[in-house]
Amino acid sequence: MKQEKILVIGASGQIGVELTLALRKIYGAANVIASDLREQNELLIGNGPFVSLDVMNKEMLHVQVIRQNVTQIYLLAAILSATGEKNPHLAWNLNMQSLLNVLDIAKEEKLHKVYWPSSIAVFGPTSPKQNCPQQTIIEPTTVYGISKYAGEFWCNYFYNKYNVDIRSLRYPGLISYKSAPGGGTTDYAVEIFHEALAEKTYECFLDKDTYLPMMYMPDAIRATIELMEAPAEKICVRTSYNLAGMSFSPEEIGNEVKKHVPGFTMTYKPDYRQQIANSWPQSIDDSVAQKDWGWKPEYDLEKMTEDMFTNL
Ligand code: NAD
Ligand code: SER
Repeated sequence: MKQEKILVIGASGQIGVELTLALRKIYGAANVIASDLREQNELLIGNGPFVSLDVMNKEMLHVQVIRQNVTQIYLLAAILSATGEKNPHLAWNLNMQSLLNVLDIAKEEKLHKVYWPSSIAVFGPTSPKQNCPQQTIIEPTTVYGISKYAGEFWCNYFYNKYNVDIRSLRYPGLISYKSAPGGGTTDYAVEIFHEALAEKTYECFLDKDTYLPMMYMPDAIRATIELMEAPAEKICVRTSYNLAGMSFSPEEIGNEVKKHVPGFTMTYKPDYRQQIANSWPQSIDDSVAQKDWGWKPEYDLEKMTEDMFTNL
């Protein structure tokens, strides 16, 4: 087992549950502390430590880091795109202040590493729609995207100025079966599976031809761990790496679902989330991540759909 003590903040969320489980396999259950404002997810109960923690309370966070001899932090607490548009100030405050609290403590306590995810939401309507590159025009139009882009530059600043080894990925929309998504524009691609099994029909809040970058959770967890385990000299991007898995539209995933649920039907009723989706690229170029630390996704739409139905 590797000698690290890891604190996962936001461990009860969609990514946090699976990332905590994966980290506990590598570092040992006792060395990965799950924490959240919410209560512990049932999948984490009994297999490792949990502390109730508000990342906005910097003093309490600092006390926990010292008391538990924490050497690495994975910061996952955030307000996502759709919820963020309903309460922009709350999203800005949480997404920015949580990161600044963690970066300050990482600097002061000389933590070995910090992980903080960004998102494809940094891109805006003026970014290229297809194969959006690592470096391009970036003019986000959602508060979530603005907070992620600003956060990327705080990460870069703390790396350059204080040598904090912080690493980051721009996740696409994530699809998973273990834990529910938390208020994003890409959540439809998880809801569709549950509704297909329960009702054999799904009303999608995005239009049928809205292509977005997506990724299956096992790929996202593996990417996170591969990035964090890569030698520091391989990490050339200290803002955040583009990361790609697949790209599909609601109609395409609907057709894939139909292969597993005969008689499944889908209708479309776009709401305010359509505008958010329209502002994002349809596909992502992650060749820099491939080159720097060897990233390669495993799941395409067909393989993911099969695995989702096997597990749900
Ligand atoms: P989520 O909403 O499912 O989970 C976030 C967790 O943070 C929740 O359990 C919530 O209770 C917790 N939290 C909120 N405020 C907190 C606070 N003050 N103190 C402690 N915990 C708090 O989100 P997620 O989908 O797991 O996303 C995790 C990270 O990955 C976020 O930074 C998000 O922006 C990013 N991301 C997610 C996706 C995706 O598709 N899920 C895509 C791109 C980026
Ligand atoms: N899945 C996320 C969202 O829709 C992208 O960061 O908000």
